[in-house]
Amino acid sequence: MINLHLPAKYPSDKTAIAPSILSADLLNLGERIKQAQEAGADWLHIDIMDGHFVPNLSFGPATVKAIDGFTDLAQDVHLMVENPADFIEPFIKAGASSLTLHIESKGNLKKLLEGIKACGLKCGISIKPDTKPEALLPFADLIDLILVMSVYPGFGGQKFLPSSPAQIAAVRDIITKTGRPIWLEVDGGINAETAPKAVKAGADALVAGNAVFGQSDIKKALSDIRAAADVKI
Ligand code: DX5
Ligand code: ZN
Repeated sequence: MINLHLPAKYPSDKTAIAPSILSADLLNLGERIKQAQEAGADWLHIDIMDGHFVPNLSFGPATVKAIDGFTDLAQDVHLMVENPADFIEPFIKAGASSLTLHIESKGNLKKLLEGIKACGLKCGISIKPDTKPEALLPFADLIDLILVMSVYPGFGGQKFLPSSPAQIAAVRDIITKTGRPIWLEVDGGINAETAPKAVKAGADALVAGNAVFGQSDIKKALSDIRAAADVKI
């Protein structure tokens, strides 16, 4: 099991990029992951959808297990599920590096986050575009990562919502006030044009599905986003 290596303090020297396999050619998944790793991807983002929390289905623990046996890239697992309690143990056993739960999902999230941490994984909370950032406050002393959705979750290839920079900046303020090394990851519609907007607003990790795995030349796609993301803040 590989842990995400979180920086001791913000700012880190580079923006982490996490390609999402949701947009990958599944018949060539291993080859495409290898290309992303060689191109310098920092983490792999794995979107888990249950058909209830979002109107779509995607992957399960078997996918994470197969990837864990194939690459040493960290698996940043994003649980878009109604009842995360049902899935935490299977994903930990499968080899997830971090587990991010939605604040809008059901259950005792604090207890679930503590359980994830106790197993040695990083834990995160994600918020949908309409969720107020203040809702994160009760979890701030516990989490390693906040995942700000810059689209309504459920599908890849959507457009970065114009309201996202304000949401990201508000989350960055909350993180700064905690004084804790919490990653701020942004997910949805990230490409070379929107990456600088997210970074300027305070992101230090970016998920990119369509803009990386949806492109034939992964090396070029990743380096375009990297160049655009490494703006001075
Ligand atoms: C959306 C997922 C995203 C998705 C991003 O519900 O959480 O991680 O893969 O895809 P793009 O980058 O294509 O918007
Ligand atoms: Zn995601």
